[in-house]
Parts: sequence; structure tokens; C-alpha cells
Amino acid sequence: MKVTVRTLQQCKEEGRKFSSITAYDATFAHLASKAGIDVILIGDSLGMVLQGHDSTLPVTLEDMAYHTACVARGNQGSLIMADLPFLTAATTERALDASHKLMAAGANMVKIEGGAWLADTVTLLKRNGVPVCVHMGLTPQAVNAFGGYRVQGRDEDAAEQLIKDAQVLEAAGADILLLECVPREVATKLTQTVTVPVIGIGAGPECDGQVLVMHDALGFTQGKVARFVRNFMLNGNGDVLQALQAYDAAVKDGSFPAPEHCF
Ligand code: KIV
Repeated sequence: MKVTVRTLQQCKEEGRKFSSITAYDATFAHLASKAGIDVILIGDSLGMVLQGHDSTLPVTLEDMAYHTACVARGNQGSLIMADLPFLTAATTERALDASHKLMAAGANMVKIEGGAWLADTVTLLKRNGVPVCVHMGLTPQAVNAFGGYRVQGRDEDAAEQLIKDAQVLEAAGADILLLECVPREVATKLTQTVTVPVIGIGAGPECDGQVLVMHDALGFTQGKVARFVRNFMLNGNGDVLQALQAYDAAVKDGSFPAPEHCF
């Protein structure tokens, strides 16, 4: 059965967790959807895990459209979410144009990084039939502004601001919020405050859904591995489909993320 934004909304209303993972090509998209993963994200993390850059900033809209089309050909019913890469949502017009290209390539919705200042963009996209996810907290495209990949929302003011931003974005029409690297208590409060589904990565088990970068979930990592990552290949027999099924099951039964994956 095809997963839509309505399916995820129903999951939230019924207290059922949903799963999401990145994929960038047809083979892994096929495996992710076969494993029962609800949302496939064509993340601009492809700039790091596929292209070897040290950030997501060099990724172009053409890169995103190419990988979105590859994923769409392999997908078997998961919701396809594609990232608007660096600066393509800097104005509402650019965001509309960039979203057009990703939706035409096969995306079912787009993801934009930022906060309340994206409200007009979210409303414009929604009016034009583009469902939107807003990625908040640690937004990797702002790594230079943050001075590194740091946990966000640690102090009271920053936590309050995140929750206010979430409310503004929900009112503007955002379908989903994605929270990266924020303390568990802040993510819990934010998830309970909004009625739209919240996907977490490094944000604790109380979020409505979870996402991981495919390479992290399969243990294809180099150097330091982020605290919120679990390698789902470790307890299996080396079978990728089985590892993805284990990830999906762990998200849905609430065993991932565990306390050691939280901030
Ligand atoms: O680009 C990406 O893969 C992402 C995830 C880390 C959520 O945005």
C-alpha cells in the first residue's frame, strides 16, 4: 500500500511510530520499501556519503533531481521525500522552482532546512500542491553558521524558540517537521505541542518517526560515528534487507533509539 502524508498523520493520531531512511539509488530504494520503511529520504547527505564532500553545501539541484529519479524507479510504495539543497529555498520563487524539479523527478514531498522564517515558503508550496517537511534543530546546511555539527536547543531560550518556530511552521501548513540533534526532553515537548508528525534523528524515541542515513544504519561509516547511530548489520548475517527490516522493526516497537542514542 502506498504511504502518503495522510498515512503519517494517521500514525501520529494513533500513536504508531513510522520509519524513514535515506536512499539515493533504485536498488537501495527497492530494498528500503521492501523492508517496510515508510519514508525514503533523498537527503543532500549524498554530498558526503556518495560524493565524498565534507558537508552538504556543494550538492546541486541537478544532483538531487537525478538521485530522486533513481529512487523513484526503485521504490515500491514508500513516501519519497527529497531535500532542497543549499540556498535553493533562499527565496520563495527559487523554492517553488526547485520543488517543481524534484516533484517532476518523482518526489512526493520536499524537505527544507530552517525555521519560522520559512513560513511564507511553506504556505506557497502547499498552495501549489507540494507537501513540505521542515528540517529544524541541527540543520547541516548551516554548519558554517553553527561553527560545527553541534546539538541545538540546549539552553532554555533556544529550546523555547524551536518550539515557537514549530508552531509557526505548522500554522503555515508544514506537513511534517524533522528534528535533528536536540535534547530528548525538548524533542518530546515539541512533538507533543504540534499536531503534525515529527521525525527525529538524534532527538530521542518520543518523536513520531525516526530517520537515519542508510550508510550509518548499515555500518558503512568512516571515522567518528555520531552518538545517535546504530549499525543494524551487526546482529544479522550480512543481509541488507534483513538489516533494514531490523531497523524498521526497532523504530516501530520503540526500541530504537535507546537512551544511549539520545542527548
Ligand atoms: O540529508 C540527509 O540525509 C538528512 C538526514 C540527516 C535527516 O537531512
